[in-house]
Amino acid sequence: MPINKLYLSGLRPLIPMTDIEKLVRPHILKMKAYSSARDEYTGKKGIFLDANENPLGSTSRKSYNRYPDPYQKSLKKVISRIKKVSQEQIFLGNGSDEAIDLLVRIFCSPLQDSILVMPPTFDMYAVVAEINQNPVIKVPLTPDFQIDTQRVLKAIARHTKMIFFCSPNNPTGNSMDRGSMLEIMSHFKGIVVIDEAYADFSSAESFLNILPEYRRLVVLQTFSKAWGLAGLRLGMAFADKSIIGLLNKVKPPYNISMATQALAMKAIKNREYKDYMVQKLLAERKILKLGLSNLDIVEKVFPSDANFLLVKFRNADKVYNYLLQHQVIVRNRSNVALCEDALRITVGNEKENNILITTLKNYKA
Ligand SMILES: Cc1ncc(COP(=O)(O)O)c(C=O)c1O
Repeated sequence: MPINKLYLSGLRPLIPMTDIEKLVRPHILKMKAYSSARDEYTGKKGIFLDANENPLGSTSRKSYNRYPDPYQKSLKKVISRIKKVSQEQIFLGNGSDEAIDLLVRIFCSPLQDSILVMPPTFDMYAVVAEINQNPVIKVPLTPDFQIDTQRVLKAIARHTKMIFFCSPNNPTGNSMDRGSMLEIMSHFKGIVVIDEAYADFSSAESFLNILPEYRRLVVLQTFSKAWGLAGLRLGMAFADKSIIGLLNKVKPPYNISMATQALAMKAIKNREYKDYMVQKLLAERKILKLGLSNLDIVEKVFPSDANFLLVKFRNADKVYNYLLQHQVIVRNRSNVALCEDALRITVGNEKENNILITTLKNYKA
């Protein structure tokens, strides 16, 4: 009998809990997942009178009257091939934001279990934890935006369940030191999430290849950046199949729409175009960095492995407002610790980057 069924039946499990099961919130382990109509019959043929769909068709030109595959099997098959991981190690979310949210809710008991983040970093990790009432331990990056390994190791508390690494990091743009991450992973007994949303723009090695050795690792990637599919909302989580099983257990049954699944399948076939866009954006990043570095108002353009640049200005707030007045919208990070006077600027297309530089050239301090 599977271990969670034993718990449900009230019997004491004879099999010891796995390291991952020990980390899961007990009620998640015990609960019975919602079983959707399409879970129970997976065949394609038949008269489908099980899901209260509309049999007459759709009001749209394309037919979307049927619920989509809850486990996105065809799409996972293709992703499995390009990422070289098994289909059982893939979870697809409504953006990687959904995976972040589900992971925190699976592993972190409110008012008890903490997550550890290294600011400045992607805000969603802390936001999701705060929504779920989980304490957030913050260990700032060093002034050169690297992991303070010893401080992280010291800050890990008894109830720290998850550590979030973001590499390349948003908003700093640099990749985190692999050795530091591995050192922390070798000591930490909880779940490690490595967010590789910007990995396509970096030459740093992905952590996907160590999945088999580190069962408590979750690697996040997304179709929102290099693939240019932010509007579709499709994120990937790669992990041991036991963690993927938990994500599948708690996710909304049909979290990836039929349109998203079909469009993503098409987009993946167009992989060369993704590679072309990455090369183009990397070339644009280089030109943009040079253009910005030549401006008097710019103090520093930080090194970037992502599709954006963190730029330190003489007076970032003023520059930000000036750009807004000229309908050039960038992200003001100047209130974020270690990013004082910095704006995060996405690498645009050639025309957009030229407008940005020309506009900045016309700025009167
Ligand atoms: C580091 C990082 N992770 C995740 C995300 C969210 O990605 P998605 O669009 O897949 O939800 C972002 C979005 O900007 C990000 O910067």
